[in-house]
Amino acid sequence: MTSRTVMAPPSIPGATFVGSGKCAQCHDDVSHSFDNATHAKLIAEGSNGQEMGCESCHGAGSLHVKTGGAFGTIHNPTAETCFQCHLDKRGEFNMPNSHPVMSGKMSCSDCHNPHGGDAVAQGDTTQMESINSTCLQCHVQQGGPYVFEHEASREGCVTCHNPHGSMNSKMLKARNANLCLQCHFQQNTSTGQIMIGGRDHGSFLSRGTCWSAGCHEAVHGSHVSSSLRF
Ligand code: HEC
Ligand code: HEC
Ligand code: HEC
Ligand code: HEC
Ligand code: HEC
Ligand code: HEC
Ligand code: HEC
Repeated sequence: MTSRTVMAPPSIPGATFVGSGKCAQCHDDVSHSFDNATHAKLIAEGSNGQEMGCESCHGAGSLHVKTGGAFGTIHNPTAETCFQCHLDKRGEFNMPNSHPVMSGKMSCSDCHNPHGGDAVAQGDTTQMESINSTCLQCHVQQGGPYVFEHEASREGCVTCHNPHGSMNSKMLKARNANLCLQCHFQQNTSTGQIMIGGRDHGSFLSRGTCWSAGCHEAVHGSHVSSSLRF
């Protein structure tokens, strides 16, 4: 896990902390699923530390509870709320190629469920197949089905893309052949050939990336070309 500072929760003037148990009185559905959520295990410092789960994102709840949920008495979390603890994510979303969270067109909860289970929607960070289904809700095309499927996609969209943002176009994790060579090993033979997938790629690699230059442009899968050419 990267370094992470637990900062002050959102401030709500005049309100004090009541604990997650109080929220359950009226938001039973949310509270129930929250039991096993990543963020349920968060603990704030000080005497208000018990059961800080809900209020770590929504702010102190006493006014909200007292007024029976009056409008404007509780914090509605935005990406800024998440950045308070996930400092490094602000940087990722400010990269030149990123999901449009900073402009407000998307939110963290499009991909992460703040209330239930592991925080990565429909699975956890180790279950790539369920991560894929999150991506495919919006990027239908990349899911195929294809006649010639690239097995890499089954391993996970995030083997090639950083879902938050990247310096590289299309949020790619590498801008050159290294992206592909993490799985397709390159062998330099004694004759000076560069073998990839059983073929000499020596003269190809200088022409452009593996997925441009007319080589493997159908990188997610193809209907016509087993070598994912188009
Ligand atoms: C006495 C009942 C009651 C309690 C206790 C309660 N709420 Fe609410 N809450 C409501 C009502 C009513 C609404 C407005 C209708 C709705 O969205 O369900 C609401 C709305 C909300 C909203 C949506 C606000 C918005 O602007 O859309 C959030 C977030 C929320 N509550 C969080 C909490 C948290 C966190 C706690 C515990 C600290 C809590 N509530 C405790 C009754 C309650
Ligand atoms: C990790 C931050 C986080 C925590 C912890 C958290 N929430 Fe939320 N909550 C959010 C976000 C983000 C939204 C807006 C969700 C959306 O846009 O779909 C939200 C929305 C809500 C809403 C209004 C919409 C809805 O889903 O009904 C309620 C009510 C609510 N939360 C209650 C709670 C309660 C009760 C707890 C504790 C059991 C809790 N939240 C803990 C981040 C959090
Ligand atoms: C009060 C601090 C705090 C806030 C606010 C917060 N988080 Fe977290 N979050 C944490 C901590 C601490 C962990 C680490 C838990 C761990 O390492 O197991 C975590 C873990 C996560 C994870 C990783 C879960 C996993 O399964 O590996 C995701 C995703 C996440 N948070 C998303 C969010 C989103 C989205 C928001 C805003 C809606 C948010 N967080 C708000 C403190 C916070
Ligand atoms: C387009 C979907 C998407 C959006 C939007 C998104 N995430 Fe993620 N996030 C993911 C995926 C997928 C992973 C798992 C990545 C992996 O395992 O390589 C992840 C992992 C994480 C993690 C845990 C691993 C890590 O990188 O530290 C945190 C924390 C996190 N996201 C926070 C956030 C916050 C905060 C936001 C909003 C500002 C956000 N995410 C928006 C898809 C998304
Ligand atoms: C809620 C919808 C949504 C989800 C879920 C989602 N995306 Fe996106 N994605 C978008 C939007 C909107 C854009 C920006 C499109 C644009 O700027 O034209 C985008 C852009 C992209 C791009 C860059 C496209 C380009 O032409 O530059 C890639 C790559 C991408 N997403 C991959 C992913 C991956 C991988 C996941 C899963 C971890 C994912 N997306 C989940 C909505 C989503
Ligand atoms: C083997 C690496 C790899 C995997 C796995 C992968 N992608 Fe890509 N993706 C790429 C490359 C390379 C590009 C850039 C293609 C280009 O620029 O012509 C790209 C481009 C994209 C784009 C931009 C539109 C386009 O086709 O140019 C989206 C959206 C996208 N990928 C989504 C996904 C989703 C969703 C998944 C998981 C189902 C996924 N990708 C899996 C390598 C990969
Ligand atoms: C996560 C691992 C992984 C990554 C990353 C990856 N691949 Fe693959 N690729 C595979 C697997 C597995 C196969 C199927 C077995 C094989 O042919 O080696 C495959 C097959 C292929 C094939 C078909 C070979 C044939 O003729 O049958 C091509 C072409 C290909 N990949 C190109 C690429 C390109 C281009 C990239 C980078 C954008 C890339 N791969 C990244 C795992 C990966």
